[in-house]
Amino acid sequence: MIDLRSDTVTRPSEGMRAAMAAAEVGDDVYGEDPSVNRLEADVARLLGKEAALLCPSGTMSNLIAILTATHPGEEVLVDKEAHILHYELAGAAVIGGVQLRNFDARNAGCPTSDQLRELERLNDPGHEPRTSLLCLEQTHNRRGGTVAAPEELRAAASTAREMGMLVHLDGARLGNAAARLGIPLRDLAECADSVNFSLSKGLGCPVGSLWVGSRDARVRAHVWRKRLGGGMRQAGVLAAAGLYALEHQLPRLVEDHEKARRLANALHDARGLQVDAEQVQTNIVLLQTERPADQVISRAAGAGVLLTAFGQHTVRCVTHLDVSLAQMDEAAAVISRAAG
Ligand SMILES: Cc1ncc(COP(=O)(O)O)c(C=O)c1O
Repeated sequence: MIDLRSDTVTRPSEGMRAAMAAAEVGDDVYGEDPSVNRLEADVARLLGKEAALLCPSGTMSNLIAILTATHPGEEVLVDKEAHILHYELAGAAVIGGVQLRNFDARNAGCPTSDQLRELERLNDPGHEPRTSLLCLEQTHNRRGGTVAAPEELRAAASTAREMGMLVHLDGARLGNAAARLGIPLRDLAECADSVNFSLSKGLGCPVGSLWVGSRDARVRAHVWRKRLGGGMRQAGVLAAAGLYALEHQLPRLVEDHEKARRLANALHDARGLQVDAEQVQTNIVLLQTERPADQVISRAAGAGVLLTAFGQHTVRCVTHLDVSLAQMDEAAAVISRAAG
C-alpha cells in the first residue's frame, strides 16, 4: 500500500524508538519529567516564545489556545476552511462556549486587513458578542497545504490586535511552511500570541502537539490541559520522540514537498481530474475529480493507493516520511486509472 491519506500515518522509525526507549522520565503532572521540560524549552525557543506545553493532540492544543484566550459568550474568527472549524467537533462551542465566525481568505487562509475590518462589531455589548480571538492556520490544510508570507500574517495580526483580538496560529504543519519559505520557525510564529505545533504529522512522532505562547498564558493553558484530562505522567517517552524529530525530521520536510511536486506533475495530463501545480507548495496535493471522490478513492485503494476525500469531488493526497519519491510515479499511475 502507498498510504497518502495523511502525514499522520507515519510510524516511528528505529532511531526514534531507540530514543523513546532510552528517555529519562519523571511525573510530568508534577512538572518533573526532564525530557518533557527539555522538549517544551526547545520548542518555545525555536518558535521565539517564552513557554510551551506538551499536549496529547493538535485538537487539544488548539482548544486549549481558544480556552486560554477567550471567555464563554465571545466569538473567534476563523477562515471558512479552517481545521478548527471543520474537524475539531465544535469543541470551542461545546467546551469553550464561544462561537466561530468565518471569513473566506483564499490566500492560504490569511485574511487581509480589509476583510477583518468588515467583520468589526459596532461596540454594542447589549446585542453583540465580543470578538476576542483570530485563528490563522499555517500551512493551510483544506486549502491544499498553502503558505502565507510572514508579512501577510503580520498585517492580519496587527489589524486583529487593533480590533482588540489576540491571535492564535494553528501551526500543525508550521515546519512545512518554514521549509517552503526557507525561514526560521520563529519568523512565522512571531505574528501570534499562541501557536499549535504538531509532532505527529510530518515530524513522524506517534503522539504529541505543543501549545506555545507566553509564560503567563501557560499558567492558564496548564490548568485547561489538566481539566481536559490531558495531564500525562511519564510523558518523557513521547517527548524523546519529539526531541529526536526536531533533530532528524524537521530538516528533511523539504523532501516531502519534492514528493508532492513529483506526484502533481505526474498527474498533470491525467484524464478525469485536475490538479493546480501552482498550489502545490508543501506536502499536500488536492485533486478535483470528475467522478465522485469516494469512487476514485475506492478504485485507487483497490489498486494499492490510499487517499482521503475532502469534498464530493475533491481528493487529498499527503506525502510524508514513509513514502518514497519513486513511489510517487506508481501512485500517479494508479490515481490516473482510478480517476479516468
Ligand atoms: C491544520 C491542523 N490542525 C490541527 C490538527 C489536529 O491535530 P490532531 O490530529 O493531533 O488532533 C490537524 C490534524 O490533521 C491539522 O491538519
